[in-house]
Amino acid sequence: MKAGVDAILRKAQAEYLDSLLTESDPLLAVMERVAADEGHPIADREVAQLMRVVLAMRAPKRILEIGTNIGYSVVVMGRACPDAEIETIEIDPAVLRTAQEFVREAGFADRVTFHRGAALDVLAGLQGPWDFVFIDCVKTEYSDYLALVRDRLTPGGVIFVDNLLWGGQVAEGAKSGDQRDSTEAIREFNARFTGDPALVATVIAVGDGVGIAVKGDRTLLG
Ligand SMILES: C[S@@+](CC[C@H](N)C(=O)[O-])C[C@H]1O[C@@H](n2cnc3c(N)ncnc32)[C@H](O)[C@@H]1O
Repeated sequence: MKAGVDAILRKAQAEYLDSLLTESDPLLAVMERVAADEGHPIADREVAQLMRVVLAMRAPKRILEIGTNIGYSVVVMGRACPDAEIETIEIDPAVLRTAQEFVREAGFADRVTFHRGAALDVLAGLQGPWDFVFIDCVKTEYSDYLALVRDRLTPGGVIFVDNLLWGGQVAEGAKSGDQRDSTEAIREFNARFTGDPALVATVIAVGDGVGIAVKGDRTLLG
């Protein structure tokens, strides 16, 4: 670490970086308001923007998302990748219906397959391969998701993961007893993710902590 421990994450830097984000388009702005009003855990705007950057670099044709919620990230991904087919998994039928309505409104419902059910059950029956996978679901299952998707990722495919700092708890310890399992699970996931010889991976302090991995041989990449 070249700079001081808190050289990047001070409040002023975070606020400045926020000020660089452009306005959300009208549909995403509505979705952000619905999420805030109804308490839906959608991706932060800076995470969505990082995702757009990675999607623009990779131009994936087949995308898998684990954790749909109201479809905010589906709309982000679908717009960033106009040729991509997207599969997304959600257990809650009510939020899934909301997601389907928003994606219809976005105008690309024909490219999105909504799977309703528990992610681990659904994943076991999916084919792949995918060239971009977004993991944003049950924290205690993150390592299982990784195990289920890594071999069905195309070479050069990307795994993008949200909430890897889990509100600071992964580094500093769980804030309450009911957070202990998720916190431990993410810590274990982070070690697997960054240590996986099939992946070139990093965890960065954007939003609540984002993991990005590219499938490839790290010995070839130095
Ligand atoms: C963090 S939200 C996803 C947010 C979405 N990716 C976005 O950024 O707009 C996680 C979602 O996973 C769903 N979920 C919870 N347990 C699940 C399970 N076992 N299988 C599938 N989905 C689940 C929740 O209902 C919730 O909507």
